[in-house]
Amino acid sequence: MATIGIVGAGTMGGGIAHVAALSGFNVLLHDISTDVLNRALQRISTDLQKGIEKGKISAENVEQTKQRIRSTSTFDDFSPCNLVVEAAVEKLDVKKNIFSELEQRCLPDAILATNTSSLSVTAIASSVKNAERVVGMHFFNPPHLMKLVEIVRGQKSSDETIRKTIDLAKQLGKTPVLVNDTPGFIVNRCARPFYGEALRILGEGIASVEDIDRIVRLEGGFKMGPFELMDLIGIDVNFAVTKSIYEQTFGEPRYRPHVIQQAMVNAGYLGRKAKQGFYKYEL
Ligand SMILES: NC(=O)c1ccc[n+]([C@@H]2O[C@H](COP(=O)([O-])OP(=O)(O)OC[C@H]3O[C@@H](n4cnc5c(N)ncnc54)[C@H](O)[C@@H]3O)[C@@H](O)[C@H]2O)c1
Repeated sequence: MATIGIVGAGTMGGGIAHVAALSGFNVLLHDISTDVLNRALQRISTDLQKGIEKGKISAENVEQTKQRIRSTSTFDDFSPCNLVVEAAVEKLDVKKNIFSELEQRCLPDAILATNTSSLSVTAIASSVKNAERVVGMHFFNPPHLMKLVEIVRGQKSSDETIRKTIDLAKQLGKTPVLVNDTPGFIVNRCARPFYGEALRILGEGIASVEDIDRIVRLEGGFKMGPFELMDLIGIDVNFAVTKSIYEQTFGEPRYRPHVIQQAMVNAGYLGRKAKQGFYKYEL
């Protein structure tokens, strides 16, 4: 069975590892922090356990799935990978460094995918010699529950890379949609006003976090309100995406970040992962 490498074992990397291992792939999960790796393995185990309780998966399958995941802190282990999904922090220089490292270690025909939410896949690909094998593979949070994956065609991604990545998304049980490389792709572009307007309503003292979320859920038919969703995504991650789209569109006012986002990040109120965001979570 093919091996999938995953770089970054945070919210998304851990979830993508879960999906890949459950679909029968061998997984190599990488992070610079061993604490993060241990927490990711623990979270995968907890989420799989919930699957047993709901009758969705057998105890035997859970054991096999866990055994398919190996963690590592060195890229030297990535040589057998047929595909790597990078899910490290949303910073162009960090991602470019990772891709340059990966190119030197992975099989020459391995696909190098990025889970970036907003950065240019073409810019990330500029760090490798063969940009044809670079593509965006944008999973949604939480990856083991969300069906959609945006497959982002960089300016130099080859048709072969796109075809193989779409096939792989299907093998992972996902619904792929092909998009061109543009700031925010489809979903994050549509979602900017969702968060931005909610933050402005809050900032102008028009309504509370709870009321905005409640009305959007009840009357808008959304599963989560904007503040609940920002807490789930990570306020630092969401802020980084907003800034990235704003900068890449040369200051388009529709995408302007809000000072509340900066204030939350300054305070370390990053959402669920910090047990405090717009809401408080159990310790
Ligand atoms: N959180 C979401 O809802 C969401 C959804 C879709 C896509 N994304 C994208 O996925 C990526 C990861 O987001 P996240 O929410 O998982 O972030 P996160 O902060 O939870 O995890 C990022 C991880 O990357 C690791 N890391 C940093 N530098 C690294 C390096 N050089 N090598 C290896 N690991 C490194 C960190 O230790 C951390 O564990 C970002 O590009 C983000 O935009 C996030």
